[in-house]
Amino acid sequence: MTQQVQHPTRHSNGIAQEASRRRTFAVISHPDAGKSTLTEALALHARVIGTAGATNGKENRKETVSDWMQMEKDRGISISSTALQFSYRDTVINLLDTPGHSDFSEDTYRVLAAVDCAVMLIDAAKGLETQTMKLFEVCRQRKIPIITVINKWDRPGLDTLALMDEITEQTGLIPMPLTWAVGIAGDFRGVWDLKSDSFVRFTRNNSGASLATEEHLTPAEALEQEGDNWTDAVDEASLVVESNQEFTKERFHDGTGTPILFSSAVLNFGVKHILDALVDLAPAAGARKDINGVDRNVEAPFSGFVFKVQAGMNRAHRDHVAFIRVCSGVFERGMVVTHANSGKTFATKYAQQLFGREREVIDEAWPGDVVGLVNASALRMGDSLYVEQPVEFPPIPLFSPEHFRVARSKDPSKFKQFRRGIEQLGHEGIIQILRSDLRGDQAPVLAAVGPMQFEVVQDRMEQDFNAPMRMEPLGYSLARLTNHDAQATLSGIRGAEVLIRSDGEYLALFNDVWAMRRVEKNHPDLRLDTIGTDAGDTRGY
Ligand code: G4P
Repeated sequence: MTQQVQHPTRHSNGIAQEASRRRTFAVISHPDAGKSTLTEALALHARVIGTAGATNGKENRKETVSDWMQMEKDRGISISSTALQFSYRDTVINLLDTPGHSDFSEDTYRVLAAVDCAVMLIDAAKGLETQTMKLFEVCRQRKIPIITVINKWDRPGLDTLALMDEITEQTGLIPMPLTWAVGIAGDFRGVWDLKSDSFVRFTRNNSGASLATEEHLTPAEALEQEGDNWTDAVDEASLVVESNQEFTKERFHDGTGTPILFSSAVLNFGVKHILDALVDLAPAAGARKDINGVDRNVEAPFSGFVFKVQAGMNRAHRDHVAFIRVCSGVFERGMVVTHANSGKTFATKYAQQLFGREREVIDEAWPGDVVGLVNASALRMGDSLYVEQPVEFPPIPLFSPEHFRVARSKDPSKFKQFRRGIEQLGHEGIIQILRSDLRGDQAPVLAAVGPMQFEVVQDRMEQDFNAPMRMEPLGYSLARLTNHDAQATLSGIRGAEVLIRSDGEYLALFNDVWAMRRVEKNHPDLRLDTIGTDAGDTRGY
């Protein structure tokens, strides 16, 4: 799966050099905008795979990328996130996969903690959708530069300028076109490449199963062959450039502007431009701030943090994989690393690179790369690892849950397994666990951002922990951070309750916003803080 990449040297400027040719990014979008299709097309362009469909593809998805969980197979959705590495133009690209279903958006937000850039796909016919807006907001909060790609231009859709207006008005970002569609949505002829001032004409090729043919024409040739399609594209793009000023790397990196590209992922149109933009413009793996705001430079000894923990990927082996983003130094398989949170050391014997079912033993990794540590069961989401120079990276934020269920073991004789399973799933970040003295240990409350998270819990509890459980819905839909005193204040109030999250925070739960407002009115001194935005608590960022 992974292409062989040549490494110069593992010493000082060798590390800086390797880091500077790393681009670590994720494709993000509202579901159905074409994320999986684009992932596949990017891999195809990098010639990792022979034909599209081998990596992801909706029809094939049941058989392909992440069929490790029966539930995914049944529903044909992709829940797991992994990383795909390939080289393109002497650059090493790390593409971090994110789940397609919005119920698992918390997972997507965690992946964003590990990337240096995001490619935001927008469906040309739909414009900015709810999930698109949440993702823009998370990127803004975390200062992740965004390349915006208007996808599905082969189908009828919105007008180019209307889409640009929508971006400016709703996200506040300055759209900075790198390419501009020639031909209206539904009649995608190619793009004007603004930098080279040429017309790149796309030709359909085997329904996107192989690389689309690209032909480069001069503006004069384009005018002759495309007539109004060409002049309209040039006029529109020039208008946007004139009113917004030209593209600058600074605006892209500081998050005030977003480069704009047009594509049809399904036809492989415009995909090469996305890869070129990543290589030429996206930030390379660089220094990362630790919990005290101090930079950990890439040349420092090895360090990294866990951005995802996943178990049950391979039922036969009952494995538990912690995905680490390398922040500094060289990771070498077998090296003894320190787990910052416990102070314990361990040898990284089983290091792998994973994408879907494909696994490959990984011997070394550089800043920006992702390593899957197998059976490192002490590692939890957000934990830091290092050698020699201690470092702790900021924690990965927890999100504001909106769905709550009381969990109980179906079989009282299996309470031990039940307890262990729930704890483990909490550590993996699959669910948040809330408790109170009143409810007792037998009946913890599970809190989720999307209800499908409960199905994962149910499945894992039965399959992996042999602890069948039942869940009863709770009427709450809103959580706020509060303190110990709130327990007494809210006791006896209908539609409200205080529970303690496994990290020790007190959460006040309310049936709805009205129940909360009533409490706010009657107890103005009570602490009721929002848990970040509904897109996530951004403490530490
Ligand atoms: P997601 O991961 O963002 O959820 O989207 P995915 O790639 O699965 O794409 C969703 C649908 O959109 C797929 O259709 C896919 O083929 C189609 N699609 C993706 N990119 C393009 C594009 O550039 N142009 C066009 N015309 N279609 C595109 P599907 O699953 O086959 O059918 P359906 O979901 O429309 O029923």
